[in-house]
Amino acid sequence: MHLTREHEQTLNGAFGAGKQAALELLVAIGDAFDAENMIPIKRAHAASSGQEGDLYFVEILAKGGAQCKVVTTTNPIVDFDYFQKYINIADEPEEASVAWKTKNYYKQIGAVMSQSCIPYLAENIPEYEEHVAFSESSATPYVNSVIGAYTNRESIQTALAAGVIGETPNFGLHLKENRRGTALVKVETGLKDSFRYSLLGQYVGKKLGSGIPVFIGIPKRPTIDQYINLCAMTNVPGAIPMFHIPGVTIEAKTEADAFGGNVPRETLIVTDRELDETREELQTATGPVEAVILGCPHYNLDQMGELAGLLKGKKIKDGVTFWVNTSATTKLLAERTGYVAAIEESGARVVTDTCIDMFCWNNLRSKTGMTDSPKCAYYRRFGPVKIGTMQECVAASL
Ligand code: F3S
Repeated sequence: MHLTREHEQTLNGAFGAGKQAALELLVAIGDAFDAENMIPIKRAHAASSGQEGDLYFVEILAKGGAQCKVVTTTNPIVDFDYFQKYINIADEPEEASVAWKTKNYYKQIGAVMSQSCIPYLAENIPEYEEHVAFSESSATPYVNSVIGAYTNRESIQTALAAGVIGETPNFGLHLKENRRGTALVKVETGLKDSFRYSLLGQYVGKKLGSGIPVFIGIPKRPTIDQYINLCAMTNVPGAIPMFHIPGVTIEAKTEADAFGGNVPRETLIVTDRELDETREELQTATGPVEAVILGCPHYNLDQMGELAGLLKGKKIKDGVTFWVNTSATTKLLAERTGYVAAIEESGARVVTDTCIDMFCWNNLRSKTGMTDSPKCAYYRRFGPVKIGTMQECVAASL
């Protein structure tokens, strides 16, 4: 890969051990993928997890004096102050200590502590054709497919390194010719609610595994939360960084545009049967629900409003805990709008800055849970689990 004199100096440690480690990682990735050069990026999103692998790298950067060069937002980890009120965080000393240190190192290197897994809606919004480095399951496909910015499917570490250097190796989805469709997905169902988009993503992600699907037959332009669900789930059981919906998403006016001369390697047909079977595969529980978690990915303001409407004036059943995860930005607006009051007066709790894949939920492992998120079900926060729409989750909790 072509490197400038400044790159060589950075690799020799002239600007500190932190920047050196960040560039070493990016150059290794670039060499592995035959990138010819590095390109500047405008922004990054590190899917910080607050777990060992995350701590390992951010600690090297922080102790080596690195600072983020471009806006670099962070994923949810855990809201310590909040959870200390409900559970004894000291019961999980090792995991809590790793998460605590990780958060502090991110602050030290100048990352934006947005702690949201949908930063592309509020805290860190790329522009069309902007080169960025975004990790996180829903973020990568959303940024590529819906916004039309260019990012590879980054890890926490490569996104963070790119944020520190302000550049990324030029390969993969940074090159137009690699953004063409590779598989055709014929949707032959009405996709009647946002939850069905999650099931569609789960089914397609699992079946294809990788590549760039082109969806035809999606009945109308998806809403923002439908896009988020589709993006998140294509990229959990699969590794799908981008898709096209001809006539809808920004880079494909027609099916021919979407494929750009590629012949589809595979064709999938998705009917209600595939989606119903996908739901059944994810469910392991029957009987009454003891805990509900919504907001994986974090709920946006529209979803908070919808949930507030469903819970207003109702009471969650005794013995059932009900949590909704969102970002601090969304919660602030939801408070001002009255949504948080309506939700919390029912007995449900709104929590910010927190990922469902964290130790603070370990106390739910013996409970029968319910969620509207296949991703949450996948991470097995509960014992047995049911999945369903937001409305079904609320109904089960009342
Ligand atoms: Fe967000 Fe964590 Fe779920 S990052 S999408 S809450 S697994």
